[in-house]
Amino acid sequence: MGSGIREVLGRLDRELWLVTAQAGGRRGGLIATFVGEASIAPEAPRMVVGIGRAHHTWELIEGSGAFALHLLGEEHLDWVWRFGLESGRGRDKLAGLSAKAGITGSPIVEGALGFLECRVEERMDTGDRTIWLAEVLDGRLLGDAAPLTTKRLFGLAPPDKLEALGRLYAEDGARDLEAIRAWRARRQGAGRPPEAGTRPDAVRE
Ligand SMILES: Cc1cc2nc3c(=O)[nH]c(=O)nc-3n(C[C@H](O)[C@H](O)[C@H](O)COP(=O)(O)O)c2cc1C
Repeated sequence: MGSGIREVLGRLDRELWLVTAQAGGRRGGLIATFVGEASIAPEAPRMVVGIGRAHHTWELIEGSGAFALHLLGEEHLDWVWRFGLESGRGRDKLAGLSAKAGITGSPIVEGALGFLECRVEERMDTGDRTIWLAEVLDGRLLGDAAPLTTKRLFGLAPPDKLEALGRLYAEDGARDLEAIRAWRARRQGAGRPPEAGTRPDAVRE
């Protein structure tokens, strides 16, 4: 990545969310920063999330068409280590936490600053991730602490967790890069036209 791009992206800070889902008798969750509000109409709240296709939680959302978003505060650092550093494939990441099924069946974990329960309306595959657009069906604010953000997380993490985060970003980043390149190559192979604005003859039309 060029240094200019890195500098611009370095100015961003993102809230951390715990994303949970269940399908076929399995449940799980992960930490995500690719979560955004996707509607300004109060009568039609929507969220958009981007989840890596390699993750266990991806399978659960794909299977159920639903998920729950939990907003985290600084007191939820333990949840970041529990849900964000290793896959829940083959184990129950929610074991020992107090959680109950929401209206979509997605687990609502007790103790977050707030939660939103969402049902998928549309999906887009982008190689490394699936981006889901979802209707928000329910939600509750339960605490008024400041949400935990990526920059704050890196400020608070002890050295062993900083190392683990560095490993995660490096490994997931390498896998994502490969998936993005393969996706682009597949699209070119399928003769899909380049997006508007990238066509060399676009200005002549
Ligand atoms: C700070 C932080 C932000 C993350 N953001 C995302 C994200 O936006 N999307 C995603 O798919 N994974 C994200 N991850 C990675 C997953 O949380 C992590 O790989 C998790 O172990 C996957 O768990 P699973 O296989 O049980 O679903 C993030 C992890 C951390 C620590």
